[in-house]
Amino acid sequence: MKEKRVHIVTMGCQMNVYDSEQMVRLLAPLNYRPTSHLDKADLVLLNTCSIREKAEHKVYSFLGRLVRIKRLRPDMIIGVGGCVAQQEGYRLVERAPYIDMVFGTFALGRLPSLVQYVEDRKKRIVDISPRGALEPLYINGPVFEAERATAFVTIMQGCDNFCTYCVVPYVRGREVSRKPGEILEEIRCLVENGVSEVTLLGQNVNGYGQKNGHGCDFPALLERVNDIAGLRRIRFTTSHPKDLSDRLIDAFCRLDKLAPHIHLPVQSGSDRVLRRMHRGYSRDFYLKKVAKLSKVRPDIAITSDIIVGFPGEEAVDFEATVDLVRQVGFDSFFLFKYSERPNVPAARFSNKVGDAVKGERFSTLLEVQKELTLKKNKALVGTTQEVLVEGRSKKSPDQMAGRAPCNRIVNFANGADATACVGDILPVRIVEAFSHSLLGNPVGKGRGEYYQENGGMSNVA
Ligand code: SAH
Ligand code: SF4
Ligand code: F3S
Repeated sequence: MKEKRVHIVTMGCQMNVYDSEQMVRLLAPLNYRPTSHLDKADLVLLNTCSIREKAEHKVYSFLGRLVRIKRLRPDMIIGVGGCVAQQEGYRLVERAPYIDMVFGTFALGRLPSLVQYVEDRKKRIVDISPRGALEPLYINGPVFEAERATAFVTIMQGCDNFCTYCVVPYVRGREVSRKPGEILEEIRCLVENGVSEVTLLGQNVNGYGQKNGHGCDFPALLERVNDIAGLRRIRFTTSHPKDLSDRLIDAFCRLDKLAPHIHLPVQSGSDRVLRRMHRGYSRDFYLKKVAKLSKVRPDIAITSDIIVGFPGEEAVDFEATVDLVRQVGFDSFFLFKYSERPNVPAARFSNKVGDAVKGERFSTLLEVQKELTLKKNKALVGTTQEVLVEGRSKKSPDQMAGRAPCNRIVNFANGADATACVGDILPVRIVEAFSHSLLGNPVGKGRGEYYQENGGMSNVA
C-alpha cells in the first residue's frame, strides 16, 4: 500500500496538542505518516480552538490558504476537527464547501473510518455526534519523529463548571475521567520511549475521578505517577481554585517529582465579577489558597489567567484585579480581553465593556505583568537551576533550551564540548534574566560527556 502523508495544524490548548498526537497514532494503520510540509500532504487536518473569537478567525484564515492549494491539488483531503468543528458542524462546510470532513471533539476515535469514507466514496462527511464521549480512544506508543523529553497526557475530558464566559463545557462535554491504570500505562510507555517529564492535562484536574468511581482521586493519581520508575518530573494543568484541596497542596511537599509550579487561573480580583463569572470562589478564598501553597512549598511558582473587560466590570473591579495581581506577585500570567462567545450565558449579560476601555485595561495590566515577571526572573540570577533539556534554543542555534523546575525557559550555551543531551537534567547557573526566559551556564556535564570520551561513539556495548 502506498504510504500517504498527513499534515496536522494544531491550534488552541495543550489538549489539542495531545489530541493531534492521537490523530497521528490513529491514522498509522491507514498508512499515513506525519509530515511538516503542507505541500506534500495527502491529508490536511486542522485541530481547532474556539475559546476566543480570534482563535476562530485563525481557522478561517488558514482555510483561505488551503483552498488555493486544493485548487491545484483537488485530491488533497481537508479535515477540520476540534472545538470549532464541534461548535460549527455543518455551518463549516456551508461556509467553506471545499472541506471534505468535519469531525468534532467526540469523533476523534472515529477519525480512521471518516478518512476511509472520504477516500473510498469521494464524499463529504460531518460527524459532530456526542456519541462515544464516554469511550475516548487512547492508543499508546511513540509518535515522535525526534527525541523528546516531555509529553502531555490527558487524564480527563470536558468540564462541568460552566463559567459564564466559556465555551469549553459545550464543545468538550461533561467531565469524564480516564481510568488510572490506562493513564499509568501510557506514562510508562512514554518513559520507555525517552520521556522524562509529563504534564497531566484536564480542564479541572482537581475534579479527576470524582464522578466515575475509579477509586482514585487526583492526589492519589499523582502519588501513583510519582512511583513510575524512570519518570523524573510531573506537572499538571489546569487546577480550578475552588477545588484545590489541602491534600493536593500537600502533594507539593510530599511528592519528590512534582515540579514546584501551579497554574491557578484567578480570572478577576473582584468578588462581584467572580460571582458573575460563576467561578465559585471569592478573592479572599483565592488568597488563602495561595498563602497555603507558599507555606507548604516556599519556592512554588504561581501563574494565572486573567480576563479584562468582562460584562459589567467597572473601574473599581479592575482596580481590585490589579491589586490582587500585585498582592499575589504572580510569576507570570496570561492576559485576555473578554471575547463574546455564541450561546454562553455571558453573551446575554448587559453592561458590555467597550473595546477602548478593554484595551486600556489590558495595557495597564500588561505593564504590571512585565514588571512583575522581570522582577521575579531577575531574582533568580545567581541561583543554580536543575534544567531539563528539551532541545535547541529558539533564540540561538548555538544554545540549548530547557525548563527550570518553576517552568521558566532557560537557554544556555552548550560549549565546545557540547555535553547536554535532550532529556538531561543539568544544573545551570543563571547569569541573566529577560521577561520570557533566563540565560545561564551549565555547571555540570550532560550525558554527552560519555559520548565525547568515546570519540563520538554512542553505541558502545
Ligand atoms: N479550564 C481552565 C481554562 C481553560 S480556557 C480553567 O478554568 O482555569 C483558558 C483561559 O482562557 C481561561 O482561564 C480564561 O482566562 C480564558 N478564556 C476563556 N473563555 C474566554 C472568553 N470568552 N474571553 C476571554 N478569555 C477567555
Ligand atoms: Fe471553562 Fe470554567 Fe471549565 Fe475552565 S473551569 S474550562 S474556564 S468552564
Ligand atoms: Fe480551545 Fe478547545 Fe482547548 S476551545 S482552549 S482547544 S478545549
